[in-house]
Amino acid sequence: MPFNPFEEKPIPIEMTYMDWKTMYPRPYNKETTDPYTKCRIVLMNGTEFEAQWFSRNFSRHCPDNDLRRQLAMMRRTEQQQQKRISCLKPKDETILEHTITYEQLAVDLTARLAQKETDCDVRSTMNFALLEDFDHLYRYSNLLEMEYNRDAKKLVGGYTEIMPARPTIAEHRCPKDSINRYIINKKTSILTQLQVNIITAAEQQTMNYYMNVAPLYCKSDHGRRLYQEIGMIEEQHVSEYESLKDTRVTWLEDLLMHEYTECYLYYSCMQSECDPYIRCIWEDCLTQEICHLHMAKDMLRKYERKDWQQIIPCGTFPELLILGPNIEYVRRMIAKTTGNTRQEEDIVSLNSLKKGNEFFVYQQIVNHDVRSVASHNVIDRHICAFGKDYRYQTAEHPVALLRSRTCDNVTLARIPCETPEKLSVAGKTSDCDDNSNPCDCGCS
Ligand SMILES: [Fe+2]
Ligand SMILES: [Fe+2]
Ligand SMILES: [Fe+2]
Ligand SMILES: [Fe+2]
Repeated sequence: MPFNPFEEKPIPIEMTYMDWKTMYPRPYNKETTDPYTKCRIVLMNGTEFEAQWFSRNFSRHCPDNDLRRQLAMMRRTEQQQQKRISCLKPKDETILEHTITYEQLAVDLTARLAQKETDCDVRSTMNFALLEDFDHLYRYSNLLEMEYNRDAKKLVGGYTEIMPARPTIAEHRCPKDSINRYIINKKTSILTQLQVNIITAAEQQTMNYYMNVAPLYCKSDHGRRLYQEIGMIEEQHVSEYESLKDTRVTWLEDLLMHEYTECYLYYSCMQSECDPYIRCIWEDCLTQEICHLHMAKDMLRKYERKDWQQIIPCGTFPELLILGPNIEYVRRMIAKTTGNTRQEEDIVSLNSLKKGNEFFVYQQIVNHDVRSVASHNVIDRHICAFGKDYRYQTAEHPVALLRSRTCDNVTLARIPCETPEKLSVAGKTSDCDDNSNPCDCGCS
């Protein structure tokens, strides 16, 4: 059924506020809950973080106290929603187990969005980061078995494979190579705008999470180092994604789009949720977001004399976001693009970089001593303790150089002569043929 949140009757803002009992939910069971329910919880917690910080920054840049009071009214709900959703995580779920959900979400959310994406730049950005989060899942899963004797396959439900992709050690690039060309909203589909907002918030939350938990991880120093290292990649991912957003929209236009994104996500969660208790929470949140959306629409009218249709021409939701497995798609991406890196706005083959490129300079600064790189050490230590690395594969690894279970590859996508050209189908068109949707850019 098509759904247009602008056609819904909103409840008053005061009715969106919750009492303490409602705000503290019954946590999920970490052993029996569907992995994608856990992923949706991580996703919506991240979405509420974004709602919170967007509103705060808007308020800090806004001279009108009437408008700031309205923002404060809305922001209170966002804060309560975040509290309610984040406490669905049970007390007995460790930081590391929760991290596995963060990276599974990063993989399966990115893969789903990329397959639906029609803007080539946006899709390439997603496919590029997809392989990196996929590799993070592998590194953390090795730590999980080593330090908690837990099998990550069980946590991801066997829906997401766990094996190396572009090795984390190769992901550290010069920061200037993390800025993309921004989209022009007026020329871009509403689905692309939604997807950019969604992935930016999700990656930002992963960055926030690692920023907070690195020092709280109490099991070992190398665990804390791993959070530090992977946290640096999440920082890159946020730069890559947020730089896609149209930089020329006004704060109120952006507020409308934020609320529309929240409505779209809660509606998508509601439609796909298998846990009836959590489905009710998504329903409540959707009702609250419809109120916010209408407030944002009224503020845009009042302060900028614009109709919501100037920003969102048709309010009916595009195809919903339904999380699920993407094993074959991810395998194809690994086979074709593991050897890619970035140069300014472009995704390029590692072999195309000239000697002395900033990538090599930055790599030399951070990785000159490979034995001090946590993402490599975690695999090395696992091999020492168990005789081989931890993996969950449904078939042979698509890249021959990443098949060894007893030697961690630290040169692929980092050292040109160790990176076969066939693993770098680079450039804008590299992944277009893997997409069921036609490209907007006419590249194919
Ligand atoms: Fe919200
Ligand atoms: Fe990641
Ligand atoms: Fe990421
Ligand atoms: Fe909201």
